Amino acid sequence: MAQLVEIVLFMERDQKSSNRNIFDKLVKEERIFRNREALSSTFIPKEFPHRNKEINDFANILKPALYGARPSNILIYGQTGTGKTAIAKYICEQIVEKADNENKKIHTAYINCKQTNTPYGILANIGKTYSTEWDEVIPNAGWRIDKVYSALKQKADDNGGIAIVILDEIDALVNKNGDEILYHLTGLNSDLNNSKIALIGISNDTKFTSWLDPRVKSRLGEESLTFSPYNAIQIEEILAQRVKLAFNENVVDPVVVSYCSSRAALEHGDARKALDLLRISAELAERDEREIVTVNYVGKAQSVMEKDQVRCVISTLPIHYKTTLASIVFNEGKSKNGQQTTGEVYTTYKQICKLSNLQGLSQRRIGNIISELDMQGLINAKIVSLGRQGRTKFINVAIDKKQINDLFEEDKFLSDIIYELKQNTTYFSSTQMRLI
Ligand SMILES: Nc1ncnc2c1ncn2[C@@H]1O[C@H](COP(=O)(O)OP(=O)(O)O)[C@@H](O)[C@H]1O
Ligand SMILES: [Mg+2]
Repeated sequence: MAQLVEIVLFMERDQKSSNRNIFDKLVKEERIFRNREALSSTFIPKEFPHRNKEINDFANILKPALYGARPSNILIYGQTGTGKTAIAKYICEQIVEKADNENKKIHTAYINCKQTNTPYGILANIGKTYSTEWDEVIPNAGWRIDKVYSALKQKADDNGGIAIVILDEIDALVNKNGDEILYHLTGLNSDLNNSKIALIGISNDTKFTSWLDPRVKSRLGEESLTFSPYNAIQIEEILAQRVKLAFNENVVDPVVVSYCSSRAALEHGDARKALDLLRISAELAERDEREIVTVNYVGKAQSVMEKDQVRCVISTLPIHYKTTLASIVFNEGKSKNGQQTTGEVYTTYKQICKLSNLQGLSQRRIGNIISELDMQGLINAKIVSLGRQGRTKFINVAIDKKQINDLFEEDKFLSDIIYELKQNTTYFSSTQMRLI
């Protein structure tokens, strides 16, 4: 009898274990991360090492809002990953918190102009800061722009108070639409009776104001702040702060932090790059069921990131650029010392065009495309003097061969070219085929 009970219990246990969800083990055993969110791009920390001065200046410029006066408009410059977005959002959170405690009316709006880059979209987003009913007041599209302006003015005056509007990546807005929208926005205050608007423009491009109408330039840049790039030691401190928040104790080898920091410092002191490198390293270690993130994983993370970057560049190349790149990759195995001339690239390019029914461009155009591919870092093209025979370009692929072959296979157009070429081996030598 006892034996029978034991068998039944065993069967039940077996049944239970086979009913387990595959995520049970993964979720329970969170060995590495304490709080992943702390490494995400949207996380706003409570402290920003090495930005005390910038935060202080920024807060002082906005302070008048707490007394009901309009703060100056501000332009913020700095390379990517220098903390512009995170600090602007942080300051806005802080000022709203203070205003709420003191019963003052401050509204804030954050607009990324790469995502919202039409005057209509910008005005609609500012309108939403005043009330959630804004969506019911104006439709998402369809009104004339001056009607949207009037609705916004009305809404601002009905609500009163001060609106602080962050226009992040403001150069994208100007590139796409010119500066008319900024002209109207910076002039809005003179039409408002019971409210005020302050604008904070953020840009990676220090030269962007040279395209602005001088009136817009002076109104928008009443104050300006520059965020300088971080050095390796500064990035290391920023990472150390995140490591404490994001990871369990002693799971990240300290060498990992210095390695990520020095890599990012080489690339114009970009803290985002360092944080991404750290996050991806930890995710790869986790996937391998490791308990410690070692420097080994930073190397792996780096190649994942590079591949992603190259993938992004390749996938957005126009068709003749892709064809030219394919020609270069294809020729690479054939040429002595791995180099080829523009003429050789052009010959293969023409053959591919014929195979894929593409109207070929002139050799001169392909020469220009080669220079652009060089600037994008996909190939190296160096001009060499041939003495009395003049000069030529020596071209070779700048990316790891395995990586580029993988990426070609993922791309529909490029993989079709490869397929076509494989079907037409007469055009190409076997050495070339082996490359693909
Ligand atoms: N001084 C700092 N302290 C803590 N984190 C920082 C600091 N500077 C930048 N970061 C972090 O680095 C990442 C990139 O910053 P971000 O504000 O997006 O840069 P930018 O807008 O200048 O390109 C964000 O995750 C941000 O939180
Ligand atoms: Mg930013």
